[in-house]
Amino acid sequence: MSALPPIDPDIRHATTLPGRFYRDPAIYDLLRERLLVPSWHWIGHATELAAEHVRPFELLPGSLDEPLMLLRDAAGDLSCLSNVCTHRASIVVNEAGPCRALRCGYHGRRFELDGRFKHMPAFEGAVDFPRPEDDLKRLETGSVCNALFSSLAPGSSFDEWSAPLQPLLERLPQADFQFDKSRAATYEVDAHWALYVDNFLEGFHIPYVHPQLAQALVDDDYENQLFPSGSLQVGVARPGDTAFEPQHRIAGEERPVAAYYYWLTPTTMFNFYPWGLSVNVVEPLGMQKTRVHFKPYVWRPELLDTGAGGNLDLVQTEDEDVVEKVQRGLKSRLYPGGRFSPSKEPGVHHFHRMLADLLH
Ligand code: FES
Ligand SMILES: [Fe+2]
Repeated sequence: MSALPPIDPDIRHATTLPGRFYRDPAIYDLLRERLLVPSWHWIGHATELAAEHVRPFELLPGSLDEPLMLLRDAAGDLSCLSNVCTHRASIVVNEAGPCRALRCGYHGRRFELDGRFKHMPAFEGAVDFPRPEDDLKRLETGSVCNALFSSLAPGSSFDEWSAPLQPLLERLPQADFQFDKSRAATYEVDAHWALYVDNFLEGFHIPYVHPQLAQALVDDDYENQLFPSGSLQVGVARPGDTAFEPQHRIAGEERPVAAYYYWLTPTTMFNFYPWGLSVNVVEPLGMQKTRVHFKPYVWRPELLDTGAGGNLDLVQTEDEDVVEKVQRGLKSRLYPGGRFSPSKEPGVHHFHRMLADLLH
């Protein structure tokens, strides 16, 4: 049985998830259905695609593998649609490019660019046809600084999910953030996706694992805030180092903030630096393999390569090394689960409670 005991809400008493959480295929599969399916995921950019162009893609390749397409119609409206024909499930769009009409190549079913059923050959005589189910399903979307998100079956609205970001977003010119393909990166980590998230959720390890990053941040001021859909860690710059201007910090913040590190459940990180936003997209590929994309949305290019967001590749390499060591350690039959630092690990505790509650 895959159920886990709940985790004590009092961090001073709580223990971490047990090792079997990371090893049990039934738990892995259950989380895919209960956590990944109803969640919001990065799908692209609000600014991509010219009018009457389409891009097919899979949502979370390696775990959900859901065929979708992003499409902009003649009026300029962007839609995220199912890319699975409502007849016998062939893929409708196979290549990115211009798109004036949607027509399935298997038996010729046609759809409007907003997904509505248009025509099907040889269906005269079919009763109760077409039904709403014969339209291509259209997914809700939402954006943050031009990063675009969607969900197969939203367990919460986009606004609820992204609410923790709002106090910062209202201080930033979201429309000016531009995706910079030349700085995007993809990594593969030999570890369970939840270990990658665990590591993100605490700055406790920064002085030990990231000596260069530690030079940019004031250790004692690093703080955690918890929300129903995620958490925020605020990194404060050392005097003289790159920091957000006062008018671009969350209202009331007096300190020179070097980075706002948000995590929104389950697999998206929003790292705001004075130069812009790096979205970390975490893709589970199996119990011991995870792909991580860094999607940079640049707002002030002159600040790239400075401060806490100056060398993300180095920080990632250091994180990968330590996360892969934890993956190896969790194979141990001698490790029963650990305890949390009440001051440094409330974010990890919050995440473990969410996971245990889903599996209870
Ligand atoms: S599967 Fe698309 S028309 Fe038959
Ligand atoms: Fe790290």
